Amino acid sequence: MDHSNYVIDEMISAKSIAARVEELAKEISALFEGTDKLIVVGLLRGSFVFIADLARELDLPVEIDFMETSSYGNSTESSREVRILKDIRGEIEGRDVLVVEDIVDTGHTLNHVVHLLKSRNPKRLKICALLDKPSRREVDIAADWIGFEIPDKFVVGYGIDYAQRNRNLDHIGAVRFVE
Ligand code: IMP
Ligand code: MG
Repeated sequence: MDHSNYVIDEMISAKSIAARVEELAKEISALFEGTDKLIVVGLLRGSFVFIADLARELDLPVEIDFMETSSYGNSTESSREVRILKDIRGEIEGRDVLVVEDIVDTGHTLNHVVHLLKSRNPKRLKICALLDKPSRREVDIAADWIGFEIPDKFVVGYGIDYAQRNRNLDHIGAVRFVE
């Protein structure tokens, strides 16, 4: 099939996202209340819009850091390797950490990142993902906060891409290929 022609069907509006981000930020702020500093670790590149909105709603002292991963491997095997392309700059030992991901799909990326960060002995480590596709899960990993649970559809927008495009859409849409 030719994958160059596609339309984007709105799945989650910009307004719904903003409302949910506000709720998530309230819960996260309550959980980490009293922290001297929360280190927010965004997974590049898909979480950049979410992290920008979420961080501005947090009522906490915050440090922002980023990690970039890439996954590769044989698509016929369920186990996938995850490579760290860019590590965080800061130290997290004894600190409060919030990992922010765009989508939890098979779960391999988050699983790898969380194991790595936990090996550095943070005080507390929590996970917030904007979207969750539970039907796709291959490893047992769950986020502490999920923005929206979605069906097994390929989505774009609000930071999330299809072949590096559509990250600047203000809402989340499902990609539908057309003739
Ligand atoms: P996982 O390791 O399979 O959980 O991979 C999660 C990553 O795959 C996410 O951070 C996204 O970058 C990418 N991904 C998963 N589903 C989608 C999608 O529907 N659209 C765009 N990227 C996706
Ligand atoms: Mg990603």
